[in-house]
Amino acid sequence: MTLCEVKVEVGNSPYMVRIGKESLSWIGVQLRDLDIPLTRRVIVVADANVVDHHSEKVMLSLDQAGFEPILWKVPSGEGSKSIGQLEPILSFMAKHRIDRSGAVIALGGGVTGDLAGFVAAIYLRGIALIQAPTTLLAMVDSSVGGKTGVNLREGKNLVGSFHQPSLVVVDLITLQTLPPRELAAGMAEVIKHGCIADRKLFDKVAAGQTEDLAPIIQRNVEIKAEVVKIDPFETNGRRATLNFGHTLGHAIENAAGYGSLLHGEAVAIGMRAAAHLSKKKCGLSGEEVGAIEAAIKVNNLPLTASGISRETIRAAMKLDKKAKSGVNRWVLLPKIGQTVLREDIKSEDVEELLDLVLT
Ligand code: NAD
Ligand code: GLY
Repeated sequence: MTLCEVKVEVGNSPYMVRIGKESLSWIGVQLRDLDIPLTRRVIVVADANVVDHHSEKVMLSLDQAGFEPILWKVPSGEGSKSIGQLEPILSFMAKHRIDRSGAVIALGGGVTGDLAGFVAAIYLRGIALIQAPTTLLAMVDSSVGGKTGVNLREGKNLVGSFHQPSLVVVDLITLQTLPPRELAAGMAEVIKHGCIADRKLFDKVAAGQTEDLAPIIQRNVEIKAEVVKIDPFETNGRRATLNFGHTLGHAIENAAGYGSLLHGEAVAIGMRAAAHLSKKKCGLSGEEVGAIEAAIKVNNLPLTASGISRETIRAAMKLDKKAKSGVNRWVLLPKIGQTVLREDIKSEDVEELLDLVLT
């Protein structure tokens, strides 16, 4: 059953994000009904933790709709977003003769979506991609907008490509098996969207009113879709606003070692830091900083991190792919719901933020 949907209009190929219950059980029909003609052979690239719970209905539905799906299991965790994971998947696809009209179905969280999305972007110079996100983070953020890629030891997302999906199928049932810590991590991106674009959404999440997830996911996808429509390739500054909390967040995530802090947890700490910096640099009120901290806390996300070396964080910030000539770009908030980009943040300011968030 589809509960709501959002059209993402980017370039010449708009696509739908369908949010529903049990929607993975009819993913095959949804693929068959796409405007693009697909050949029979398609690959489902699935997170190992998701396979047991949710892949059977996907395979069955594809089979019943006349496809010949093959399954590839990706080990769970950020470590799978690596160059090393690409080759065996690409070889498996070639061995099974997936052709230019084939498709990759990414079944999992942001890790699987980014990895499988990149596979779809580079196999035969690009084939169709269907995102079937199974974490809240992937539903509200990573499955939409076309960023795909893998990490290098030197930093996150340093290799990748823009490759928009042809369809995004959000099945809320999958969240029933998601560990609570992962659900909380997804809320970090929801808070982020509220902070940068929608005070009402922010207030709702800050009040912990998150039981009815369908409208929350819908609003988040709308916000992301609006941004991506204006700035699909992150060239005019609009899409950069989605990185609120990420300048320090990515560095902390990287410095902690992939997997020790979840992406959303690192972003929560980064948002807290960016809120304090916003107060200092562009007039965010103390009350609003407090509201952002409270929203992070209410949603069971961390405000601080411990045991991470400052030196490693500084080094990771230098490698941020958004840094130009070593200068980091910060997304700051004059008020909740509005953003400015700043590149004039001094190392003393960063040290103050590290004093705040490192315990
Ligand atoms: P993830 O993909 O690692 O999934 C989190 C954990 O939940 C994993 O252990 C996974 O096995 C498990 N899991 C997933 N779905 C499950 C389910 N339904 N039931 C039980 N277990 C389940 O992490 P994530 O938070 O979804 O994504 C983080 C990644 O997304 C990061 O690599 C980040 O860089 C990326 N990201 C990308 C974009 C983008 O625009 N492409 C945006 C934001 C984040
Ligand atoms: N999550 C950031 C982006 O999609 O641009």
